[in-house]
Amino acid sequence: MNRKLEILLLPGDGIGKEISVEAEKLLEWISLNSKFKFSVTKDFIGGESIDKHGLPLRNETINKAKKSDAILLGAVGGPKWESIPFEIRPERGLLRIRKELDLFANFRPAVVFDSLTNSSSLKPEIIESLDILIIRELTGGIYFGEPRGIENLSNNEKRGFNTLTYSTSEIERIAYVAFEVAEKRKKKLCSVDKANVLESTALWREVVSNVGKKFPNVELTHMYVDNASMQLVRDPRQFDVIVTTNMFGDILSDCASMLTGSLGMLPSASIKTENKNKCLGLYEPVHGSAPDISGKKLANPIAMLLSVGMMMEYSFDAKEINLLLKKAINNVLKSGSSTIDIAKHNDKVLNTEQMGNKILDELDNLNND
Ligand code: IPM
Ligand code: MG
Repeated sequence: MNRKLEILLLPGDGIGKEISVEAEKLLEWISLNSKFKFSVTKDFIGGESIDKHGLPLRNETINKAKKSDAILLGAVGGPKWESIPFEIRPERGLLRIRKELDLFANFRPAVVFDSLTNSSSLKPEIIESLDILIIRELTGGIYFGEPRGIENLSNNEKRGFNTLTYSTSEIERIAYVAFEVAEKRKKKLCSVDKANVLESTALWREVVSNVGKKFPNVELTHMYVDNASMQLVRDPRQFDVIVTTNMFGDILSDCASMLTGSLGMLPSASIKTENKNKCLGLYEPVHGSAPDISGKKLANPIAMLLSVGMMMEYSFDAKEINLLLKKAINNVLKSGSSTIDIAKHNDKVLNTEQMGNKILDELDNLNND
């Protein structure tokens, strides 16, 4: 690789900043120990951007994002910005970057590391060795449907409304991604909808089934979202890949994350796949800005580091680096080091920076083996 890869780092708000420092250190480690070299540019998103520029995301930042090879994002939001108008809330920055970059396929793996089997609120025998992947449609559905708003009906009466829409092409493209991924895994795909009540998701079911005819070796099942949420906690290992709408994916992925012990463990990738040569992707932890622990060095950096791992695998085709990173993390956890969110009785509890360093040390060890 003779060109430096341009990474746009958007730390955002709350613990986003603390975990981004650890991500930068990991990028430096990769630069020193592999053929990949990075040039990292930082910019603002979310509340910090509102404070500095009056908007959660500037056009300038979007343009930088479009030109970069990949984007790493910390988290956005916090109580400070909860009372400002919807259109300029921190979350809108995140939604806008997803939409403008057309990052329609959101990958949210929920994997239980051996050493954390006892950290989940579910019984170990239910979640042991769990490895599932939720693929969430990210640029359509009720998050973006028009019309939307809150209108005055009379003095004391208002009406809030959002629109759930999906077109054939929007469903088709996410279905293709999901089938292609399922084909490379256990060849099992569960599509989650509410086709018994919502027309837009009845269309979802129809289109996913049609795409499925092109993938006869993948076993396709359909499940209503209420049942799926129940099945996820009853017997999560019945699933391998789940594909679902924007809002159902938002909800089910938080649920799936708790199967793994902590929301602080889960990375995500949001990608578009049309241009195979340059898969533009945005990588971020599934957790939010956690204002309650922000600034206290308590945050678990692992979800953010694993997001860097997903970036190496998905955007730069370096699965081996992601595997090495996952191995290093597993070893560190097995050795009894943890952050407060995943700590067991006799664990040594590390702060954000110590955990980041410990993982880099383990990467060095593995690299020298
Ligand atoms: C997520 C988050 C976002 C979403 C918010 C912060 C806009 O919950 O990435 O899951 O709802 O998509
Ligand atoms: Mg969410």
